[in-house]
Amino acid sequence: MEIKGKVAVITGAGSGIGRATAERLAREGASIVVADVDEAGGAETVRRIESAGAKAIFVKTEVTSESDTRRMLETATGKFGRLDILHNNAGVATGIPGFPKAPLAQWRRVIEIDLTAVIMGTWLAAPIMEIGGGGAIVNTASMAGLYPHSLDPIYGAAKAGVVNFTHSLAPWASERGIRVNCVCPGIVDTPMVRKGVEAAVKAGHKSWAPSNILQPEQIADAVVRLVSDDSLFGCSMEVRPSGPRIVEPRPAPGSRR
Ligand SMILES: NC(=O)c1ccc[n+]([C@@H]2O[C@H](COP(=O)([O-])OP(=O)(O)OC[C@H]3O[C@@H](n4cnc5c(N)ncnc54)[C@H](O)[C@@H]3O)[C@@H](O)[C@H]2O)c1
Repeated sequence: MEIKGKVAVITGAGSGIGRATAERLAREGASIVVADVDEAGGAETVRRIESAGAKAIFVKTEVTSESDTRRMLETATGKFGRLDILHNNAGVATGIPGFPKAPLAQWRRVIEIDLTAVIMGTWLAAPIMEIGGGGAIVNTASMAGLYPHSLDPIYGAAKAGVVNFTHSLAPWASERGIRVNCVCPGIVDTPMVRKGVEAAVKAGHKSWAPSNILQPEQIADAVVRLVSDDSLFGCSMEVRPSGPRIVEPRPAPGSRR
């Protein structure tokens, strides 16, 4: 897919990986709907994109809300005329206490944001993309969804759900001209990780400083590749400091590309 002239919706675009992807897709010539619960963060992402000469609009979005998600997608078609790219990226870790001390409401919320919202965003965006002639969806999973993640099993379960949803959906989506893939980052230097380390230290855990930490821009590069390479669908792209790698590509036999 040629990104220039396309319209992208990115959730969690007020910070970290979502902001880096929003800025990168804008530089490639897309118009961006910046979706986040965080108004200040979202406004800052829009300011950065506009000051670089590209187009963006912020829509305050709670990704677990169906009405907010509909409004977010309608903003793409209403303001920019179409919807070509959806990056289901907003996410949270369980935090401290984790499993099993985290109360039910806390871990249900993690599953709602990290998994249910990805399914809902896809469910609502796919018919719009199909009418518009197709599109590309990239879900932010994690290496925690590909390998055991004993530090946060709830988060790991949600992200594994995103990986499997992506693989399983690919044939249905590609019949509608939609490519769906997921990116699986290792540890990335974002506020999520910095807050997690701070909370762990406060809770008396030993301080932890990973040596091989990725920058959000490296994940943005992987997302751009998943969006623009028309041969990729139903893939997980693992992103480690050694570079990106496709894991378990599941091409759908006979599917449209
Ligand atoms: N940082 C890492 O090491 C890492 C690794 C693998 C995967 N990820 C995933 O990458 C994605 C982005 O994380 P990040 O590291 O950039 O974190 P971040 O905290 O910098 O950004 C997450 C953004 O999502 C928004 N958000 C959270 N809950 C929301 C909700 N309910 N509705 C709307 N917006 C919401 C936040 O306001 C924030 O702006 C997440 O899905 C995360 O699980 C992060």
